[in-house]
Amino acid sequence: MASINAPKGVPDYVPPRSRDFYHVQESLSGSARRSGYEYIELPVFESTELYERGVGTSTDVVQKEMYTFTDRGDRSITLRPEGTAGVMRAVIENRLDKGALPVKLWYRGPFFRAERPQHGRYRQLQQVGVEAIGSVDPIIDAEVIAIADQSFRSLGLIGFHLELTSLGCKECRPAYRAKLQEFLSACDLDPETRERANVNPLRVLDDKREVVQAQLVQAPLMIDSLCDSCQRHYDEVRAYLSIFGVEWNEAPRMVRGLDYYTRTTFEFVHPALGAQSGIGGGGRYDGLMSELGGSELSGIGFGLGVDRTLLACEAEGLTPLIDHTVDIFVIPVGEEAREPAVSLLVGLRNAGFSADISVDNRGVKSALKVANGMKAPAVLILGPDEIKSGSIIVKDMDSGEQVTVSLEIVELVQLLQRNLHTKKEDES
Ligand code: HAM
Repeated sequence: MASINAPKGVPDYVPPRSRDFYHVQESLSGSARRSGYEYIELPVFESTELYERGVGTSTDVVQKEMYTFTDRGDRSITLRPEGTAGVMRAVIENRLDKGALPVKLWYRGPFFRAERPQHGRYRQLQQVGVEAIGSVDPIIDAEVIAIADQSFRSLGLIGFHLELTSLGCKECRPAYRAKLQEFLSACDLDPETRERANVNPLRVLDDKREVVQAQLVQAPLMIDSLCDSCQRHYDEVRAYLSIFGVEWNEAPRMVRGLDYYTRTTFEFVHPALGAQSGIGGGGRYDGLMSELGGSELSGIGFGLGVDRTLLACEAEGLTPLIDHTVDIFVIPVGEEAREPAVSLLVGLRNAGFSADISVDNRGVKSALKVANGMKAPAVLILGPDEIKSGSIIVKDMDSGEQVTVSLEIVELVQLLQRNLHTKKEDES
Protein backbone atom coordinates (compact mmCIF):
# COMPACT_ATOMS: atom_id res chain seq x y z
CA MET A 1 0.00 0.00 0.00
CA ALA A 2 1.24 3.52 -0.74
CA SER A 3 2.68 5.38 2.24
CA ILE A 4 1.23 8.66 3.47
CA ASN A 5 3.26 11.85 3.78
CA ALA A 6 2.79 14.85 6.08
CA PRO A 7 0.81 17.73 4.53
CA LYS A 8 2.90 20.14 2.45
CA GLY A 9 4.87 22.68 4.47
CA VAL A 10 4.38 20.95 7.81
CA PRO A 11 7.61 19.91 9.52
CA ASP A 12 8.21 16.75 11.56
CA TYR A 13 10.79 16.93 14.32
CA VAL A 14 12.17 13.47 14.97
CA PRO A 15 15.20 12.37 17.05
CA PRO A 16 17.95 13.45 17.26
CA ARG A 17 16.84 16.93 16.02
CA SER A 18 13.67 16.85 18.12
CA ARG A 19 15.88 16.99 21.24
CA ASP A 20 17.17 20.37 20.10
CA PHE A 21 13.69 21.51 19.08
CA TYR A 22 12.37 20.70 22.56
CA HIS A 23 15.34 22.41 24.19
CA VAL A 24 14.80 25.57 22.10
CA GLN A 25 11.10 25.61 23.03
CA GLU A 26 11.95 25.24 26.74
CA SER A 27 14.70 27.86 26.63
CA LEU A 28 12.56 30.44 24.82
CA SER A 29 10.06 30.45 27.67
CA GLY A 30 12.66 30.36 30.48
CA SER A 31 13.13 34.08 30.72
CA ALA A 32 9.34 34.79 30.82
CA ARG A 33 8.86 32.14 33.53
CA ARG A 34 11.64 33.72 35.60
CA SER A 35 10.02 37.15 35.16
CA GLY A 36 6.68 36.27 36.76
CA TYR A 37 4.68 35.49 33.62
CA GLU A 38 2.01 32.82 34.13
CA TYR A 39 1.26 30.01 31.71
CA ILE A 40 -1.92 30.10 29.63
CA GLU A 41 -3.13 27.12 27.58
CA LEU A 42 -5.53 27.98 24.79
CA PRO A 43 -7.48 26.18 22.06
CA VAL A 44 -5.84 25.78 18.66
CA PHE A 45 -9.07 26.71 16.93
CA GLU A 46 -11.37 29.66 17.54
CA SER A 47 -14.30 31.28 15.80
CA THR A 48 -13.19 32.94 12.53
CA GLU A 49 -14.63 36.28 13.63
CA LEU A 50 -11.98 36.54 16.37
CA TYR A 51 -9.21 36.83 13.77
CA GLU A 52 -11.24 38.97 11.37
CA ARG A 53 -11.84 41.50 14.14
CA GLY A 54 -8.58 40.99 16.02
CA VAL A 55 -5.90 40.59 13.36
CA GLY A 56 -7.62 42.73 10.70
CA THR A 57 -9.34 41.90 7.42
CA SER A 58 -6.77 43.83 5.36
CA THR A 59 -3.86 41.63 6.47
CA ASP A 60 -2.43 38.80 4.34
CA VAL A 61 -2.89 36.52 7.33
CA VAL A 62 -6.67 36.96 7.32
CA GLN A 63 -7.13 37.45 3.58
CA LYS A 64 -5.03 34.56 2.29
CA GLU A 65 -3.51 32.42 4.99
CA MET A 66 -6.16 31.15 7.36
CA TYR A 67 -7.23 27.52 7.59
CA THR A 68 -10.96 28.11 7.89
CA PHE A 69 -13.70 25.49 7.82
CA THR A 70 -17.32 25.07 8.78
CA ASP A 71 -17.86 22.71 11.69
CA ARG A 72 -20.73 20.27 12.15
CA GLY A 73 -22.83 22.98 13.82
CA ASP A 74 -22.38 25.22 10.75
CA ARG A 75 -20.04 27.59 12.60
CA SER A 76 -17.04 29.14 10.88
CA ILE A 77 -13.91 27.94 12.67
CA THR A 78 -10.26 28.88 12.05
CA LEU A 79 -7.05 27.16 13.12
CA ARG A 80 -5.23 29.87 15.07
CA PRO A 81 -2.81 31.80 12.82
CA GLU A 82 -1.34 33.68 15.80
CA GLY A 83 -1.71 33.85 19.58
CA THR A 84 -2.53 37.39 20.66
CA ALA A 85 -6.20 37.52 19.62
CA GLY A 86 -6.88 34.20 21.40
CA VAL A 87 -5.18 35.43 24.59
CA MET A 88 -7.34 38.57 24.53
CA ARG A 89 -10.47 36.48 24.01
CA ALA A 90 -9.59 34.29 26.99
CA VAL A 91 -8.64 37.25 29.20
CA ILE A 92 -12.00 38.90 28.51
CA GLU A 93 -14.02 35.68 28.82
CA ASN A 94 -12.35 34.68 32.09
CA ARG A 95 -12.48 38.26 33.41
CA LEU A 96 -8.75 38.40 34.10
CA ASP A 97 -8.90 42.06 33.03
CA LYS A 98 -11.06 42.77 36.09
CA GLY A 99 -8.35 41.52 38.47
CA ALA A 100 -4.85 42.80 39.30
CA LEU A 101 -3.10 44.50 36.38
CA PRO A 102 -0.99 44.03 34.39
CA VAL A 103 -1.93 40.46 33.54
CA LYS A 104 1.29 38.77 32.43
CA LEU A 105 0.94 35.54 30.48
CA TRP A 106 3.07 33.22 28.35
CA TYR A 107 2.04 30.51 25.93
CA ARG A 108 3.47 28.16 23.38
CA GLY A 109 2.31 25.81 20.70
CA PRO A 110 1.49 25.41 17.04
CA PHE A 111 -0.01 28.09 14.80
CA PHE A 112 -1.26 27.65 11.24
CA ARG A 113 -0.76 29.81 8.17
CA ALA A 114 -1.34 28.71 4.58
CA GLU A 115 1.81 30.41 3.33
CA ARG A 116 3.98 29.29 0.41
CA PRO A 117 6.34 26.84 2.11
CA GLN A 118 10.07 27.49 1.94
CA HIS A 119 13.14 27.23 4.18
CA GLY A 120 11.99 28.60 7.56
CA ARG A 121 8.42 29.24 6.43
CA TYR A 122 5.97 26.54 7.41
CA ARG A 123 2.23 26.02 7.41
CA GLN A 124 2.36 24.71 10.96
CA LEU A 125 4.75 26.93 12.87
CA GLN A 126 5.62 26.93 16.54
CA GLN A 127 5.83 29.99 18.75
CA VAL A 128 6.57 30.87 22.33
CA GLY A 129 4.75 34.09 23.16
CA VAL A 130 4.06 36.49 26.01
CA GLU A 131 1.39 39.14 26.52
CA ALA A 132 1.41 41.79 29.27
CA ILE A 133 -2.05 43.34 29.42
CA GLY A 134 -3.35 46.40 31.25
CA SER A 135 -0.40 48.77 31.53
CA VAL A 136 1.02 51.46 29.25
CA ASP A 137 4.12 51.85 31.41
CA PRO A 138 7.21 51.93 29.16
CA ILE A 139 8.98 49.71 31.71
CA ILE A 140 6.71 46.91 30.49
CA ASP A 141 7.62 47.54 26.84
CA ALA A 142 11.31 47.36 27.71
CA GLU A 143 10.80 44.30 29.93
CA VAL A 144 8.95 42.38 27.21
CA ILE A 145 11.68 43.14 24.66
CA ALA A 146 14.41 42.27 27.17
CA ILE A 147 12.74 38.92 27.88
CA ALA A 148 12.82 38.06 24.18
CA ASP A 149 16.43 39.19 23.87
CA GLN A 150 17.43 37.14 26.92
CA SER A 151 15.56 34.10 25.61
CA PHE A 152 17.62 34.06 22.41
CA ARG A 153 20.85 34.71 24.31
CA SER A 154 20.15 31.84 26.73
CA LEU A 155 20.65 29.51 23.77
CA GLY A 156 24.03 31.04 22.99
CA LEU A 157 22.78 32.95 19.92
CA ILE A 158 24.72 36.13 19.11
CA GLY A 159 24.20 36.76 15.38
CA PHE A 160 20.78 38.42 15.63
CA HIS A 161 19.75 42.03 16.04
CA LEU A 162 16.71 43.90 17.29
CA GLU A 163 14.81 46.33 15.07
CA LEU A 164 12.66 48.85 16.86
CA THR A 165 10.22 51.60 16.03
CA SER A 166 7.03 53.31 17.20
CA LEU A 167 3.88 53.13 15.09
CA GLY A 168 2.12 55.95 16.95
CA CYS A 169 -1.42 55.87 18.30
CA LYS A 170 -4.96 56.68 17.21
CA GLU A 171 -4.20 60.37 17.78
CA CYS A 172 -1.16 60.69 15.50
CA ARG A 173 -1.41 57.77 13.08
CA PRO A 174 -4.44 58.97 11.01
CA ALA A 175 -2.70 62.25 10.13
CA TYR A 176 0.48 60.39 9.22
CA ARG A 177 -1.48 57.87 7.18
CA ALA A 178 -3.08 60.69 5.18
CA LYS A 179 0.34 62.28 4.64
CA LEU A 180 1.76 58.96 3.39
CA GLN A 181 -1.25 58.39 1.14
CA GLU A 182 -0.79 61.80 -0.40
CA PHE A 183 2.88 61.03 -1.01
CA LEU A 184 2.04 57.64 -2.57
CA SER A 185 -0.60 59.14 -4.84
CA ALA A 186 2.21 61.02 -6.62
CA CYS A 187 4.22 57.78 -7.14
CA ASP A 188 4.10 55.61 -10.24
CA LEU A 189 2.58 52.40 -8.84
CA ASP A 190 0.92 49.39 -10.48
CA PRO A 191 -2.85 48.97 -9.83
CA GLU A 192 -2.38 46.33 -7.12
CA THR A 193 0.10 48.46 -5.17
CA ARG A 194 -2.15 51.51 -5.63
CA GLU A 195 -5.00 49.52 -4.10
CA ARG A 196 -2.74 48.58 -1.19
CA ALA A 197 -1.86 52.26 -0.77
CA ASN A 198 -5.58 52.94 -0.33
CA VAL A 199 -6.30 50.13 2.11
CA ASN A 200 -3.08 49.96 4.11
CA PRO A 201 -0.49 52.51 2.93
CA LEU A 202 2.11 51.51 5.55
CA ARG A 203 2.34 48.11 3.88
CA VAL A 204 3.65 49.78 0.69
CA LEU A 205 6.79 50.84 2.63
CA ASP A 206 7.57 47.13 2.96
CA ASP A 207 7.49 46.50 -0.82
CA LYS A 208 10.73 44.72 -1.67
CA ARG A 209 10.82 45.70 -5.36
CA GLU A 210 13.58 48.06 -6.46
CA VAL A 211 11.20 50.14 -8.66
CA VAL A 212 8.96 50.81 -5.69
CA GLN A 213 11.72 51.35 -3.12
CA ALA A 214 13.45 53.87 -5.39
CA GLN A 215 10.34 56.06 -5.23
CA LEU A 216 10.04 55.78 -1.44
CA VAL A 217 13.34 57.36 -0.45
CA GLN A 218 11.64 60.62 0.52
CA ALA A 219 8.48 58.98 1.93
CA PRO A 220 7.28 60.49 5.23
CA LEU A 221 7.92 58.23 8.24
CA MET A 222 5.69 57.63 11.26
CA ILE A 223 8.59 58.18 13.61
CA ASP A 224 8.79 61.83 12.46
CA SER A 225 5.05 62.35 13.01
CA LEU A 226 4.61 60.99 16.56
CA CYS A 227 2.42 63.05 18.90
CA ASP A 228 4.05 64.33 22.11
CA SER A 229 2.71 61.54 24.21
CA CYS A 230 3.93 58.80 21.80
CA GLN A 231 7.31 60.53 21.47
CA ARG A 232 7.71 60.64 25.24
CA HIS A 233 6.66 57.00 25.53
CA TYR A 234 9.14 55.92 22.86
CA ASP A 235 11.97 57.91 24.47
CA GLU A 236 11.27 56.24 27.81
CA VAL A 237 11.08 52.77 26.28
CA ARG A 238 14.55 53.29 24.80
CA ALA A 239 15.93 54.62 28.08
CA TYR A 240 14.65 51.54 29.95
CA LEU A 241 15.92 49.23 27.22
CA SER A 242 19.41 50.59 27.85
CA ILE A 243 19.02 49.82 31.54
CA PHE A 244 17.96 46.27 30.65
CA GLY A 245 21.19 46.09 28.60
CA VAL A 246 19.46 45.56 25.27
CA GLU A 247 20.84 47.03 22.03
CA TRP A 248 18.65 47.92 19.06
CA ASN A 249 18.60 49.44 15.58
CA GLU A 250 16.07 52.12 14.72
CA ALA A 251 13.82 50.70 11.99
CA PRO A 252 11.37 53.46 11.00
CA ARG A 253 10.21 51.55 7.91
CA MET A 254 9.33 48.36 9.74
CA VAL A 255 5.95 46.95 8.76
CA ARG A 256 4.41 44.12 10.73
CA GLY A 257 2.04 41.62 9.16
CA LEU A 258 -0.75 42.12 11.72
CA ASP A 259 -2.96 45.21 12.02
CA TYR A 260 -3.28 45.61 15.78
CA TYR A 261 0.05 47.28 16.51
CA THR A 262 0.39 50.76 18.00
CA ARG A 263 3.40 52.54 19.55
CA THR A 264 6.36 50.24 20.36
CA THR A 265 6.89 47.65 17.64
CA PHE A 266 9.88 45.35 17.18
CA GLU A 267 11.40 42.45 15.35
CA PHE A 268 14.37 40.20 16.04
CA VAL A 269 16.22 39.42 12.82
CA HIS A 270 18.82 36.73 12.15
CA PRO A 271 20.48 37.46 8.79
CA ALA A 272 21.83 33.90 8.45
CA LEU A 273 18.28 32.71 7.75
CA GLY A 274 17.98 34.49 4.40
CA ALA A 275 14.51 35.54 3.25
CA GLN A 276 12.75 34.30 6.42
CA SER A 277 15.03 36.09 8.84
CA GLY A 278 12.45 37.17 11.45
CA ILE A 279 13.04 34.94 14.48
CA GLY A 280 10.58 36.82 16.66
CA GLY A 281 8.50 39.95 16.76
CA GLY A 282 5.83 41.83 18.59
CA GLY A 283 4.63 45.14 19.86
CA ARG A 284 2.01 47.13 21.69
CA TYR A 285 -1.67 47.00 20.81
CA ASP A 286 -3.95 49.72 22.18
CA GLY A 287 -7.31 49.02 20.59
CA LEU A 288 -7.33 45.23 20.40
CA MET A 289 -9.02 44.44 23.66
CA SER A 290 -11.91 46.87 23.13
CA GLU A 291 -12.21 45.74 19.49
CA LEU A 292 -12.88 42.26 20.89
CA GLY A 293 -15.54 43.49 23.32
CA GLY A 294 -13.32 43.94 26.39
CA SER A 295 -12.15 46.93 28.41
CA GLU A 296 -10.07 49.80 27.01
CA LEU A 297 -6.81 48.20 28.06
CA SER A 298 -3.52 48.34 26.23
CA GLY A 299 -1.14 45.40 26.02
CA ILE A 300 2.20 44.39 24.62
CA GLY A 301 3.70 41.05 23.70
CA PHE A 302 5.77 39.00 21.32
CA GLY A 303 5.83 35.72 19.43
CA LEU A 304 9.19 33.97 19.05
CA GLY A 305 9.48 31.46 16.22
CA VAL A 306 10.71 28.15 17.63
CA ASP A 307 11.33 26.60 14.19
CA ARG A 308 13.38 29.56 13.00
CA THR A 309 15.27 29.87 16.28
CA LEU A 310 16.35 26.25 15.87
CA LEU A 311 17.51 27.05 12.32
CA ALA A 312 19.43 30.04 13.71
CA CYS A 313 21.14 27.81 16.31
CA GLU A 314 22.09 25.42 13.53
CA ALA A 315 23.39 28.29 11.36
CA GLU A 316 25.56 29.48 14.26
CA GLY A 317 26.95 25.96 14.80
CA LEU A 318 25.42 25.69 18.29
CA THR A 319 23.81 22.32 17.67
CA PRO A 320 23.53 19.72 18.96
CA LEU A 321 22.21 21.64 21.94
CA ILE A 322 21.42 18.38 23.69
CA ASP A 323 23.72 15.61 22.64
CA HIS A 324 22.60 12.70 24.76
CA THR A 325 19.30 11.01 25.56
CA VAL A 326 20.21 9.48 28.93
CA ASP A 327 23.07 9.71 31.43
CA ILE A 328 23.30 5.99 32.12
CA PHE A 329 22.75 2.86 30.07
CA VAL A 330 22.46 -0.46 31.93
CA ILE A 331 23.50 -3.67 30.16
CA PRO A 332 22.47 -7.02 31.69
CA VAL A 333 24.49 -9.94 30.35
CA GLY A 334 22.80 -13.36 30.63
CA GLU A 335 19.43 -14.43 31.99
CA GLU A 336 20.45 -14.14 35.65
CA ALA A 337 21.37 -10.46 35.29
CA ARG A 338 18.01 -9.33 33.93
CA GLU A 339 16.10 -8.95 37.22
CA PRO A 340 18.92 -7.30 39.23
CA ALA A 341 19.55 -4.99 36.25
CA VAL A 342 15.91 -3.84 36.27
CA SER A 343 16.11 -3.25 40.07
CA LEU A 344 19.23 -1.21 39.47
CA LEU A 345 17.49 0.78 36.72
CA VAL A 346 14.62 1.59 39.09
CA GLY A 347 17.09 2.63 41.82
CA LEU A 348 18.96 4.92 39.43
CA ARG A 349 15.79 6.55 38.09
CA ASN A 350 14.53 7.05 41.66
CA ALA A 351 17.84 8.69 42.50
CA GLY A 352 17.16 11.23 39.73
CA PHE A 353 19.32 9.92 36.91
CA SER A 354 18.03 9.56 33.39
CA ALA A 355 18.68 5.91 32.64
CA ASP A 356 17.80 3.28 30.06
CA ILE A 357 18.36 -0.47 29.79
CA SER A 358 19.46 -2.86 27.06
CA VAL A 359 16.67 -5.29 26.12
CA ASP A 360 16.19 -8.40 23.95
CA ASN A 361 19.26 -10.11 25.47
CA ARG A 362 21.68 -8.14 23.30
CA GLY A 363 25.35 -9.05 23.57
CA VAL A 364 27.68 -6.49 25.18
CA LYS A 365 29.14 -5.33 21.87
CA SER A 366 25.80 -4.60 20.26
CA ALA A 367 24.44 -3.06 23.50
CA LEU A 368 27.44 -0.73 23.65
CA LYS A 369 26.58 0.40 20.14
CA VAL A 370 23.08 1.34 21.34
CA ALA A 371 24.62 3.25 24.27
CA ASN A 372 26.95 5.02 21.85
CA GLY A 373 24.02 6.03 19.65
CA MET A 374 22.37 7.59 22.71
CA LYS A 375 25.68 9.22 23.66
CA ALA A 376 25.16 7.97 27.23
CA PRO A 377 28.22 9.14 29.19
CA ALA A 378 28.17 6.11 31.54
CA VAL A 379 27.40 2.43 30.96
CA LEU A 380 26.86 -0.16 33.68
CA ILE A 381 27.53 -3.79 32.76
CA LEU A 382 26.12 -6.54 34.95
CA GLY A 383 27.19 -10.10 34.06
CA PRO A 384 27.32 -13.47 35.86
CA ASP A 385 30.75 -12.76 37.44
CA GLU A 386 29.62 -9.40 38.81
CA ILE A 387 26.44 -10.90 40.26
CA LYS A 388 28.50 -13.56 42.04
CA SER A 389 30.80 -10.96 43.59
CA GLY A 390 28.09 -8.31 44.24
CA SER A 391 29.79 -5.85 41.91
CA ILE A 392 29.20 -4.03 38.63
CA ILE A 393 31.36 -2.64 35.82
CA VAL A 394 31.13 1.13 35.30
CA LYS A 395 32.38 2.19 31.88
CA ASP A 396 33.17 5.81 31.04
CA MET A 397 32.11 6.09 27.41
CA ASP A 398 34.32 9.12 26.65
CA SER A 399 37.62 7.76 27.94
CA GLY A 400 36.76 4.06 27.48
CA GLU A 401 38.04 3.42 31.03
CA GLN A 402 36.18 0.92 33.14
CA VAL A 403 36.22 0.09 36.84
CA THR A 404 34.54 -2.66 38.84
CA VAL A 405 32.74 -1.31 41.90
CA SER A 406 30.28 -2.53 44.53
CA LEU A 407 26.69 -3.10 43.39
CA GLU A 408 25.51 -1.34 46.57
CA ILE A 409 23.08 1.30 45.20
CA VAL A 410 24.01 4.08 47.63
CA GLU A 411 27.72 3.85 46.81
CA LEU A 412 27.00 3.49 43.12
CA VAL A 413 24.77 6.57 43.08
CA GLN A 414 27.49 8.61 44.81
CA LEU A 415 30.14 7.46 42.35
CA LEU A 416 27.94 8.21 39.31
CA GLN A 417 26.93 11.61 40.69
CA ARG A 418 30.62 12.50 41.10
CA ASN A 419 31.59 11.25 37.64
CA LEU A 420 28.72 12.89 35.77
CA HIS A 421 29.15 16.14 37.68
CA THR A 422 32.87 16.30 36.78
CA LYS A 423 31.97 15.71 33.14
CA LYS A 424 29.43 18.55 33.13
CA GLU A 425 32.02 20.88 34.71
CA ASP A 426 34.59 19.88 32.07
CA GLU A 427 32.09 20.63 29.30
CA SER A 428 31.19 24.10 30.59
P1 HAM B 1 4.44 37.29 13.85
O1 HAM B 1 5.56 38.25 13.54
O2 HAM B 1 3.41 37.07 12.82
O3 HAM B 1 3.78 37.80 15.20
O4 HAM B 1 5.06 35.90 14.23
C1 HAM B 1 6.05 35.80 15.24
C2 HAM B 1 7.19 34.89 14.81
O5 HAM B 1 6.67 33.61 14.40
C3 HAM B 1 7.95 35.37 13.57
O6 HAM B 1 8.94 36.31 13.93
C4 HAM B 1 8.56 34.08 13.06
O7 HAM B 1 9.75 33.77 13.77
C5 HAM B 1 7.50 33.05 13.42
N1 HAM B 1 6.71 32.73 12.21
C6 HAM B 1 5.68 33.41 11.70
N2 HAM B 1 5.19 32.81 10.58
C7 HAM B 1 5.98 31.72 10.38
C8 HAM B 1 5.99 30.65 9.41
N3 HAM B 1 5.10 30.60 8.42
N4 HAM B 1 6.92 29.67 9.54
C9 HAM B 1 7.81 29.69 10.55
N5 HAM B 1 7.84 30.65 11.50
C10 HAM B 1 6.94 31.65 11.42
C11 HAM B 1 2.73 37.21 15.82
O8 HAM B 1 2.30 36.12 15.55
C12 HAM B 1 2.19 38.04 16.96
N6 HAM B 1 1.04 37.33 17.56
C13 HAM B 1 3.25 38.32 17.98
C14 HAM B 1 2.77 39.18 19.09
C15 HAM B 1 2.39 38.80 20.32
N7 HAM B 1 2.56 40.50 19.02
C16 HAM B 1 2.09 40.92 20.18
N8 HAM B 1 1.97 39.91 20.97
